[in-house]
This record gives sequence, structure tokens and C-alpha cells, in this order.
Amino acid sequence: MELAGKKVLLGVTAGIAAYKSLAFLRLLTAAGAEVKVILTPSAKAFIGPASFAALSGGPVLSDLYDAHTGAWHEHVALGLWADALVVAPCTANTLSAFAQGRCENLLQAVFLSARCPVWVAPAMDHDMHRHPSVQYNLELLKQRGTHIIPSEHGPLASGLVGEGRLPEPEALFAVLAAALRTEGSLRGKRVLITAGPTHEYLDPVRYLGNASSGRMGYALAEAFAREGAEVWLVSGPVDLPAPGHGVHLLSVVSAVQMHEAVMPLAQNAHLIVCAAAVADYRPEVQQPEKIKKTEGGSSDLRLVPNPDILAWCGAHKQPGQVVVGFALETDAARAQAHAEAKLARKHCDAVVLNRQGEPGAGIGTLTNRVSVVWKHNNWRHFPLLSKAQVAQHLLEFLHAELPF
Ligand code: C5P
Repeated sequence: MELAGKKVLLGVTAGIAAYKSLAFLRLLTAAGAEVKVILTPSAKAFIGPASFAALSGGPVLSDLYDAHTGAWHEHVALGLWADALVVAPCTANTLSAFAQGRCENLLQAVFLSARCPVWVAPAMDHDMHRHPSVQYNLELLKQRGTHIIPSEHGPLASGLVGEGRLPEPEALFAVLAAALRTEGSLRGKRVLITAGPTHEYLDPVRYLGNASSGRMGYALAEAFAREGAEVWLVSGPVDLPAPGHGVHLLSVVSAVQMHEAVMPLAQNAHLIVCAAAVADYRPEVQQPEKIKKTEGGSSDLRLVPNPDILAWCGAHKQPGQVVVGFALETDAARAQAHAEAKLARKHCDAVVLNRQGEPGAGIGTLTNRVSVVWKHNNWRHFPLLSKAQVAQHLLEFLHAELPF
């Protein structure tokens, strides 16, 4: 059975689509999962606990404590018990509570104490779904690592047609089953990757940037996801197709935005790989209007330093976490010494060296030839390969030498 031994907490909130969660529960238990159901108090107006109790084979929880016996429903224990928390359907109200960290019922308390991955399937009417507040809450949750199962377009209970439908139970099940399947040597590992260039705007149309294509970071994201890891890819502006299943893409433009996106995710990552070509400086001021040419005169551009995201990750390393940087060096004679210095200065566990200027290697190419330096200045050199092959080699190397 596909989900044998997996423990799933199913949260159901007060949406008309709550009827679909019964069929979803059935699919989970039929696949061998052990499921505990939490209904929000108002969900009970839509669907009764008896059906959930019968299908899950256990009591249905709803309140922080039992009104009759006074018994405390241990939200912390529930949060620790589960391999996954799925909230389907999730109303605008519960989304907002999750985003704000409110703790007014058992489901909200469990959300705050869950250590397992969390999936939220928003379901509501079209106009509610597209409201900026709802979209903001979804984005906020996504940035903090909650998985959003996007709602679908179609006929809604209100009679309107639009975005906001809860996906069918089979589709919800497919998302969860893919994530909880046990194969893959990196199943259960969370990997955070930065990729691409950053663009630092001087005015509404001009920016400072670089020629990074993002291919190396994207190839790494795909390789780690293929091996079962859950990957967050924080990407600068690139011209690449969105990565496939298992990769959560967060698109940013500037170094400051990349840093903001990385900070909350870094805390929970087992491995961080900073493959982005981040601009070291940005214009001190971003002019609101297009800068005019001054006839015959020269122009000065004042720059200020950007945050060093890799150095920040190194300085805030969590116990057992592995932090990997990239070094792009143009001075062949001193490339290795520079990479070793970077390893120490940025408190990394490994630095991947690209030699820009070598045929087929470095940024903007389809292939790459890298070397890796790690603790005690050990070196491993790889041949010229496609970026996908380099990614696979790096994954195997990291997994063997720096277990995370
Ligand atoms: O110091 P240097 O820019 O050469 O270091 C390169 C490494 O540091 C890469 O891993 C790059 O992603 C990371 N970096 C960063 N933030 C910066 C500059 C570099 O994460 N502002």
C-alpha cells in the first residue's frame, strides 16, 4: 500500500467543498495511511463528524479541550505525531488565521506546532479567492514553507465560474502520495537553493545585472527533487521553464528580495545551496522616473553593498545543517585559494568552484566543469559535463561527504 505507515492529520474547515474531504479521507485510508481528522468548530455546520469518525476509525477532534470532560486535546503531541498536515478545504478565514499565527481552535494550534510538512488547499468563491488579502496570505504562507495546493477554475457553489474550486479528492491524494512516498534517498529532506542573477534597478527601466542563466541552480533543484527532497528554489529573473514536481519556485528580482525570501526558509532547511549570482552592490537610490541623459557630461552612480545571502546562511547555520556556496573565479592561478578563503570566510561546509573563461564552463553556458572544496581544504575535481550531470554529481558528492 502506497502510504502504509504514514500518519496524516486532515484538517477540514467550514467550506461547502468539505464534502470532498470525505472521499479524500477514504483514499488516504485505503492507501494505508493512518488519519486523524480535525474539524474546525464551524465546519461541523457543513458536514457531521460521524462520517469522518467512521471513515478514519477514530474520534474526530475539534476543540482545544473537551467541553464535557475538560480533557485537553494535546495539539503539540498531534503536531509531532503527523508526517503530514493537510487542510482541505481551507477557508479564507483559516488561511488568514494561519498567516497571522492565530490560535483560536485546535486546528490553528496544531498548525502552529506542526513540525511536519503542511499542505493547504484553499477553496472559496472566485471574488474572495482573488482578493488581495487572500492572495497576500497565500503568498506569505508559501514563503514560510507551507505547500499550497492551488484551487481550480470551474463552476462554484455560488453559481459563478472562476478560480476557487477545491481540486477533486483524487487530485488531492496524488499531491500527498507523491510527497509521502518512501522511495528516494533524500525523502524527508528540505533543500533550499538560490539561482539566477539579481537585477538591481536604477530607474524603472534600467538595472545592473549579470549573465547568469540560472541553469546550474535549476538543474540542482531538479536533481534534489528527483531524489525525493522537498526543494525551495529562490530564483532571480531567468528565462527557464518552471521546474517540475517537488520544487517550490519563489521568484524574486533583487538581492534584497532574495535575502528576504531565503531567511525564513533557511531555518528549516537541511541543506542550503547558494548558486545564485547575486549582485554585490545596488544603486543607492532607485529613481522613480527614467534618468535623463546629461548633455556632454559624465554621470556618477553611487552604489551600496547588498546583503551577502550565503554569508548570512553561514552565520545563522542551524545544528546539522549543511551550507554550500559557489565561487566563480576568473583568475585561474588563484581560483582555488579564493574558493578556500570563501569557504572559511562565509562559514560554508563546501564551495563549488567554477572557472569563468574556460571553454564550456561558468555562467551562461549549457555545460560546466566544477571542483569542490570542503572541510580541511579537501578538493574533488569533476570533468566537463552538462549542468544536469554536474548537478547529479554534486548531489552524490554532498550526500556522501557531508550528510545532512
Ligand atoms: O563572494 P562571492 O560573491 O564570490 O561569493 C559567491 C557565493 O556567495 C555564491 O554562492 C553566491 O550565491 C553567494 N552570494 C550571496 N549573496 C551575495 C553575494 C554572493 O549569496 N550578495
